Amino acid sequence: MSTPPPVVWRGPGAPAAGSAEAELRGLEACRSELLATLRSRSDWEVELGFGKGRYLLGSASAMPGRPFLGVEIVSKYFRLAVRRAAARRLDNLILLRGEALYLISTLLPAAMARTVHIYFPDPWPKSRHHRRRLLDPRTVDLVLSLLEPSSGRLCFATDHVEYGEAVVETLGRHPAVEVERRVGGWPEGSRTNYEAKFEERGRHILRLVAELRPGAASLLHPAGREAILVAPSAADQPDSASRTSS
Ligand SMILES: C[S@@+](CC[C@H](N)C(=O)[O-])C[C@H]1O[C@@H](n2cnc3c(N)ncnc32)[C@H](O)[C@@H]1O
Repeated sequence: MSTPPPVVWRGPGAPAAGSAEAELRGLEACRSELLATLRSRSDWEVELGFGKGRYLLGSASAMPGRPFLGVEIVSKYFRLAVRRAAARRLDNLILLRGEALYLISTLLPAAMARTVHIYFPDPWPKSRHHRRRLLDPRTVDLVLSLLEPSSGRLCFATDHVEYGEAVVETLGRHPAVEVERRVGGWPEGSRTNYEAKFEERGRHILRLVAELRPGAASLLHPAGREAILVAPSAADQPDSASRTSS
């Protein structure tokens, strides 16, 4: 089986999803068209790591007037979601295959999303693997950069207590967001396959919603601030003149 290209784009002018001419088009061929579409709205619902796509496909079907974008790194799940989206003839959904942080850094416009959804991300429990986590102090500013500054929010859920508490702490320390744990689940019930599976088994699930504070979107997490080195200006170095003249 051939590997699919990283982007499936069936935008204006492209063959209708599910039609005989429908085709997968490569990233370079559709990049500017895709960017123009993404930039045309700032109320995208973005899911990172959508797995089998239950939440994304269900929501896009239920809300045809709203725009959805999903990112998934595993080809098998990506292809499954593409087939399901085509079968439902969804035209309000864009699916991207790739690593979420890479795509945020290189392709996705800042401030495009009304909501970023991250459900049951891989917890990478060993401490030497924490750096691979999708959401941690090192990556949180990148993920939050997708949010529209006046009303953007992040929805997150996990069954992994240690990872969940680490995310609560990371977001709790962030000056740009207000975090709230959700007690008792989402209003519509389980959102994703993992959530349904874990709920059935009676496993504890940590869910939270983090909203951007008005006017604070440009503030960075302390870990991000510390990573940026700002050199003092020459005027701030009192002995620089004496050093050069001696
Ligand atoms: C444990 S599954 C959860 C799937 C789905 N969100 C759910 O709750 O049923 C985690 C998913 O995130 C995807 N994933 C993990 N890291 C990713 C990354 N850095 N970028 C994109 N997808 C990622 C995995 O391939 C997998 O499909």
